[in-house]
Amino acid sequence: MTTTRETAARPVDVPSIAAAPDETAWRRRHLLDLDDFTPEEVGLVLTTTAAMKEVLAREVPRVPALRGTTIVTLFYENSTRTRSSFELAGKVLGADVINVAASSSSVTKGESLIDTVRTLQAIGADVIVMRHSRSGAPYLAARHTTAAVVNAGDGLHAHPTQALLDLYTMRARLGDVRGRRIVIVGDVLHSRVARSNMWLLTALGAELVVCAPPTLLPRGLGDAPGDRLPPVRVETDLDVAIRDADVVMALRMQNERMQGGFVPGVREYSRRYQVNEERLARARPGAIVMHPGPMNEGVEISHEVAHGLRSQVEEQVANGVAVRMAVLWLTTRVAGGSAA
Ligand code: CP
Repeated sequence: MTTTRETAARPVDVPSIAAAPDETAWRRRHLLDLDDFTPEEVGLVLTTTAAMKEVLAREVPRVPALRGTTIVTLFYENSTRTRSSFELAGKVLGADVINVAASSSSVTKGESLIDTVRTLQAIGADVIVMRHSRSGAPYLAARHTTAAVVNAGDGLHAHPTQALLDLYTMRARLGDVRGRRIVIVGDVLHSRVARSNMWLLTALGAELVVCAPPTLLPRGLGDAPGDRLPPVRVETDLDVAIRDADVVMALRMQNERMQGGFVPGVREYSRRYQVNEERLARARPGAIVMHPGPMNEGVEISHEVAHGLRSQVEEQVANGVAVRMAVLWLTTRVAGGSAA
């Protein structure tokens, strides 16, 4: 029988993480968005994630790959999944991880974003993982620090690591997403997850269908010239959109961003847009259901579907740790973090 002590004393095969994928495909110091990602870069994240899954499957899932690297999670908005998975990802790789919540930092005394980022750099941050309610905030931060900036969700704009973990989860169940029909349904207007998934999945050849009431669809969505979002099929009727779907991704009704009376009421919204068993009968037999979380069960997704056999919600969360390990590993290669 292998004891924990014996396992911990094994030589740590950090080089296998480094050597497996072709890291020369990665040139980014920051990870801010996926709108200009090449398929090679996506492939590198996926293969690195697979290597990280192997680390996580060990009896003692710890390697010193990022020993000597300091990661700061800087969150101006609440989070359960993203913040905790970045923290765990950093710790598994041996980094020092410092968590800063804006609500309990000197931001409350009026400190600017730029001053906060410079302060974190001064204490030795190699990577700043940042969530902010304002679209573009991580771009501003990246211009004012030598640390690598990883966007953990900015306003309505982007949530790149969520889309990468969504892709990893889809591929684990369905294989290549090329030609697969993927339906994203819900509050698309306020969803940075939807935007990042649109860029990523269309770049890989998936057939994307976006479904919402007209009031919850962003302007510029479709295939008109000059649109700032990739071309996708738009449907306002979920019963039509869901037909022959391979993946159905429900989005959270973002009550905190809903001041404009976008829908007549939650009950009416659920009646027309809830992902439930009855509607899923129109999807392909092996179709899977996803949700980035947190879920409003009984609103955008039924309790039965959220916890049913098709649901990948827990797999998404679990894969988030490995994807974030991959992203931290790759960005520190370029940032010149003091990784082993
Ligand atoms: N999906 C997601 O970003 O969840 P959290 O807000 O809990 O991080």
